Amino acid sequence: ETIDGQGKLLFPGLIDVHTHLREPGQEDKEDILSGSRAAVRGGFTTILAMANTQPVIDKRALAEFVRLQGERAGYAHVLPIGTVTKGMQGEELVEMADMKEGGVVAFSDDGKNIQNAEVMRLALEYVKLTGLPIISHCEDNYLAGDGLMRRGRASGRMGLKGIPASAESVIVARDLILTEETGGKLHLAHISTAESVELIRRAKARGVNVTAEVNPHHLIFCDEDIHLTDTALKVNPPLASQEDRAALIEGLQDGTIDMIATDHAPHTQAEKARPFAEAPFGIASLETALSAVYQYLVLTGKLSWERVIEAWSYSPAERFGLKGGTLKPGTPADMVLFDPGYKEVIEPSNLVSKARNTPFLGKTLQGFPVMVWVEGRLVQRNRMLL
Ligand code: DOR
Ligand code: ZN
Ligand code: ZN
Repeated sequence: ETIDGQGKLLFPGLIDVHTHLREPGQEDKEDILSGSRAAVRGGFTTILAMANTQPVIDKRALAEFVRLQGERAGYAHVLPIGTVTKGMQGEELVEMADMKEGGVVAFSDDGKNIQNAEVMRLALEYVKLTGLPIISHCEDNYLAGDGLMRRGRASGRMGLKGIPASAESVIVARDLILTEETGGKLHLAHISTAESVELIRRAKARGVNVTAEVNPHHLIFCDEDIHLTDTALKVNPPLASQEDRAALIEGLQDGTIDMIATDHAPHTQAEKARPFAEAPFGIASLETALSAVYQYLVLTGKLSWERVIEAWSYSPAERFGLKGGTLKPGTPADMVLFDPGYKEVIEPSNLVSKARNTPFLGKTLQGFPVMVWVEGRLVQRNRMLL
């Protein structure tokens, strides 16, 4: 068969290092089948499944379950992330070597569970035996308290309890210091402030073994875009200021930030319909992330297309050991054919994720994957799953 690629782009299947698939335990929000279908519709051929499921992924058998469910689904490669501490309770470390045997490619607790700097230090020391990175969710800690959005002019105007920027950067600084001291390997999830970017820039200049990711929503939106009547932009870490957003884009372009990752966080419509203060944090983004980045950042000249593809495929593969690992050279490729002119209305009838919590609902986005191959097998064509 001849494929007409006129006017389209062909690039490696994207690797998303931060997705919440909610299985096991919260399959009403999403499951591994629906989440991995959403992934290939969005151009992702490999997704890393975050560990905060119910139960949390703290044993080899649970990691094997996630991987197996991914294989059974047959869409994207689904690679499990394990927790750092048993039950994500922040006390006893998991059996890291054993979980690596079970297929985990990184370890990650909720930030609040490794508030204890001693636990984080031990984890960074111990993880060296596996060669895998520890993922830190710096935003999630005592300084954030029960805040609802970033503390600043917008939170003041709306009268919503604010989360100070320091809630993130204090832990970024701590984790960089501990990583430098232990010689461990650190990956910082969803960096959202200018101060964090600057801390990472300086640590990298000193040779600290750190990588960082940024979410599309932090590159596209800021706290001024939040409205009390719409919880779609209630997310953690919270949307920051316009200055922060500019610093994130600059950090991504100059290599201080290595990767883009979705933080796909599916929630039920009932939960997101609650009042702003009670709705859960999170944006479901697998099906819109690439198009949104293309439309808001590439088409506007803020980011180069080359950098976007590098940050969403090459850098994740390198950091999480996927080159010559899962994706062996010489095996049939994971590829995406992207049509920059393709327009689609984001509406429930065409979303394959179970979740609807996207700020793009009812809006039209431009630029979508129109063919996706996983290991040489066509899994999506003309926006339909095969
Ligand atoms: O907004 C968020 N929701 N951020 C996270 O990092 C976690 C996620 C979730 O699990 O819902
Ligand atoms: Zn997080
Ligand atoms: Zn997350």
